[in-house]
Amino acid sequence: MIVVRTVSDLRAALRPLRTGTVGLVPTMGALHEGHATLLRAARAADATVVMSLFVNPTQFDEQSDLAAYPRTEPGDLALAEAAGVDIVFAPDAAEMYPRGFVTTVSVSGIVAETLEGAERGRSHFDGVATVVTKLLLAALPDHAYFGAKDAQQVAVIRRLVADLGIPVELVVCPTSRDADGLARSSRNTRLSPDERARAVAIPATLEAIRLAVQRLRAPDGEPPGIPGVLGDDPFGALESWAVAGLETAGIHPEYVAFVDPVTFAAVHDVTQPVLVAIAARVGATRLIDNIVLGGA
Ligand code: PAJ
Repeated sequence: MIVVRTVSDLRAALRPLRTGTVGLVPTMGALHEGHATLLRAARAADATVVMSLFVNPTQFDEQSDLAAYPRTEPGDLALAEAAGVDIVFAPDAAEMYPRGFVTTVSVSGIVAETLEGAERGRSHFDGVATVVTKLLLAALPDHAYFGAKDAQQVAVIRRLVADLGIPVELVVCPTSRDADGLARSSRNTRLSPDERARAVAIPATLEAIRLAVQRLRAPDGEPPGIPGVLGDDPFGALESWAVAGLETAGIHPEYVAFVDPVTFAAVHDVTQPVLVAIAARVGATRLIDNIVLGGA
């Protein structure tokens, strides 16, 4: 495994390797088993695996969050090497945003403006779209790997790749979870033992919603015992029920949303495919999770 810090060194390292496919796994470091699943998927499919490691300042809405973001490069390099990465691209901010930098890639519309786009501010997905465009142009991979845990990020990147005609195939890997269901995240290390225990209410709520929707869709199944769920707005009733349940569990939900998995427009028809997304604060830590339910 080699570590390169400039775009020109990355391109030089990749030039003789273009005879086979190149897979890119963009990360901000603080790697955990969730990232490792993406690296292993790339290792299984591509001749050359590139991992980028860059804590992108432009996608953080709060400077305190950027400052608190864990930086663990030696451990990250060890995990990358164990997962079979060939090249780590670990630039500094001046390499990615040289003096005079004034260009932003901005995806507009519901897909970027709702949920995370609304809670974290417009600049979040602008920062993600701009850095991912730059990483794709730097590595020119055949495949780029992203996690389903950040479902809206995937939808935004899908849109930008289609709109700009970037020649890359996106590969979305399932959310990797701890044994009790909590989605793996670099932020989980910030949870106290008590908060860690409470956080399980997030995947448990998603699972309860999955079962309730399954029952709603079954022609003669038992209706879920949730007030209002058999009325005109079943997702609205499930949302209220989920918000109340999370609050009871000592978690502060920012949203529980039922949206189209591609456009992120709100879905009201229980027979349609739907992405159920939750963002919630557990103490000072903000966590997100989601599940996709196929159509009936
Ligand atoms: P980061 O949070 O480091 O995540 C890197 C990749 O790992 C993302 O595609 C994310 O969805 C995926 N990932 C994280 N936790 C996961 C889990 N539990 N299961 C499956 N995949 C998981 O996302 C970013 O970095 C940045 O926004 C980035 C795309 C690198 C642009 O800066």
